[in-house]
Amino acid sequence: MKIVAVVGARPNFMKIAPLFWEMRRRPCFDPYLVHTGQHYDERMSELFFKELNIPRPDINLEVGSGSHAVQTAEVMKRFEPVVLEQQPDLILVVGDVNSTAACALTSVKLGVPVGHVEAGLRSFDRSMPEEVNRIVTDAISRWLFVTEPSGVANLQQEGIPDEQIFLVGNTMIDTLMACRERCERSPILEELSLDGQAYAVLTLHRPANVDDATVLPGLLKAIERLQRDVPIVFPVHPRTRKALMEQGLDLLPQLLLTEPMGYLDFMKLLSHARLVLTDSGGIQEETTVLGVPCLTLRKNTERPITLEQGTNRLVGQDADHIIAAGMHALASAPPSVCVPHLWDGHAAKRILDVLVSHLMSRTAVPA
Ligand code: UD1
Repeated sequence: MKIVAVVGARPNFMKIAPLFWEMRRRPCFDPYLVHTGQHYDERMSELFFKELNIPRPDINLEVGSGSHAVQTAEVMKRFEPVVLEQQPDLILVVGDVNSTAACALTSVKLGVPVGHVEAGLRSFDRSMPEEVNRIVTDAISRWLFVTEPSGVANLQQEGIPDEQIFLVGNTMIDTLMACRERCERSPILEELSLDGQAYAVLTLHRPANVDDATVLPGLLKAIERLQRDVPIVFPVHPRTRKALMEQGLDLLPQLLLTEPMGYLDFMKLLSHARLVLTDSGGIQEETTVLGVPCLTLRKNTERPITLEQGTNRLVGQDADHIIAAGMHALASAPPSVCVPHLWDGHAAKRILDVLVSHLMSRTAVPA
């Protein structure tokens, strides 16, 4: 089975990695890896390939940054000849970034079916670029591989037939489970002089938080108050660094600022944190499995299971609210670890089983 798998941006890499580990074990798969080049900095891309043992991409489309239309269009233009040349049986896309939707659309228009890993998640907020990418990708994909029950319900609500929906678990959590020991060996806590200390971790990159000049100063005010109680490590996303400079905001001098971190360092940092403040999607899931309290700096989440499990809380963008929630979390006992159904390290296997059974039924000789 010839599979063209697509990655483009940082959160894609930990979702695709276990699929490649598993495909290596099964000779019936002939994978071809496309990197769209949406993320291109060493620390946003290359480092993850090395750390997660992902094969070098067979091709890098080098689309780089641009407006949504430009980036999406460039991916489509450059991906089309790859599909025509490779003639795959299917393409696999992961997550919800522009590269995901662009490659799914290109493939379907060429008559090549698409499998979407992490399908069905909905924030019901179409001002988020990722929500539009999720809706578009799910509407045209043949196989919808879902991480949590809400995703199944959302797809059913949208009229997707049951035989296209597969609740398989979470490949990003496969990666976390497979790498736990290696993460523990990271020296990042010693490097930041945090070994044995309580600390918090902050990540911020969503346009609604960092590009809006009415929002970012309020978030920084909340962070400034919380860091009086606990040191805060802030690995800064390139988009956030740019927004801070454009808005003329100084980063708080006491924050422990770092460059974007590699996977192993960041997971070590996350797993020992007393508190996490984030607007990321994936970090809400990782903190759930790690049993670390997470305050999500958004009004909604497409991952409601993280709220149900009790590790995650939506705190929005209001400074006073974030401060109160942060102080409460710091004063409370950490939540117990509560791993959602099927987040057991075997999601990639289940996905490939579905694809193999499809291949078998397609090639079965009629009696
Ligand atoms: C993208 C995804 C988002 C995901 C995030 C993880 C979309 C719509 N958004 O957002 O869902 O959570 O990745 O990081 O696909 N930049 C660099 N170097 C890089 C990459 C980006 O400097 O390697 C800078 C550029 O100035 C760029 C900006 O960051 O314009 C934003 O990059 P972009 O890929 O457009 O979106 P992200 O905010 O990273």
